[in-house]
Amino acid sequence: MDTSRAPIGVFDSGVGGISVLKRLVELMPHENFVYMGDSAYNPYGSKTKQQIIDRSCTIVNELLAHSIKALVIACNTATSAASDYLRVQFPELPIIGIEPALKAALDHPKTMPVLVLATPATLTLEKYQELEHKLGVQRNTSQVYRLGCKGLAHRIEQGNLNADDLMQDLHTLLDEYRGVVNSVVLGCTHYPFVKQHICDILGDVPCYDGAIGTARHCLSVLSARGLLNPSEDAGTIEFLSSTPGAAQIAFYQSFYELPLY
Ligand code: DGL
Repeated sequence: MDTSRAPIGVFDSGVGGISVLKRLVELMPHENFVYMGDSAYNPYGSKTKQQIIDRSCTIVNELLAHSIKALVIACNTATSAASDYLRVQFPELPIIGIEPALKAALDHPKTMPVLVLATPATLTLEKYQELEHKLGVQRNTSQVYRLGCKGLAHRIEQGNLNADDLMQDLHTLLDEYRGVVNSVVLGCTHYPFVKQHICDILGDVPCYDGAIGTARHCLSVLSARGLLNPSEDAGTIEFLSSTPGAAQIAFYQSFYELPLY
């Protein structure tokens, strides 16, 4: 098969990467996608680096069996823990990762201070430390607050996003930042699905996530390698999950249909 017509593989620890998949489809409507959610092993955010690397390798091998032409790691945590390893392990495969959109937030000085929400793993792994360093963030100032949201991605993974318990969890995490921060970085791909709730609590501050930037980066990588699908037909999306059963695939589909604000 002509490689350019092959699908793009996209993966996350579960439903979160669907927030990135939607941006990929918006930008590249003629591409075919295979989306793999590792819901059976969610959450990644409380796993060790080695555990996340092992799961990521398993998923990539599964996606390669679907003849993908490129890989989008639609998970900040897996990008932080495993992208360097995957690039060495799969040197032929174009690999696009995602990182917390801190640069976008810092580009708008009026949005300071900024609150970075991410999984505990993302915030402690060296990739995030390097990102702050590269952007010149001073650790000892109150320019950037960092909050490892233990359990939040896993709760979103259960669905029922308007339930009281989820609202309560968000209040517990965020109430103390209301009136303190002027913008938020959604540094986990699950969080855009509760963006409206986050804004309700923090008071309509601008939110930044890495999905659109990642989609643009994917487009430029494919274009530079002559890998864009020449088809003018609408592309397809196939959902796969490490949690077996049609109900899980229908669940992913229902997240794909949710609006992103
Ligand atoms: N969606 C993932 C991210 O962007 C992580 C969620 C999890 O903890 O599994 O970091």
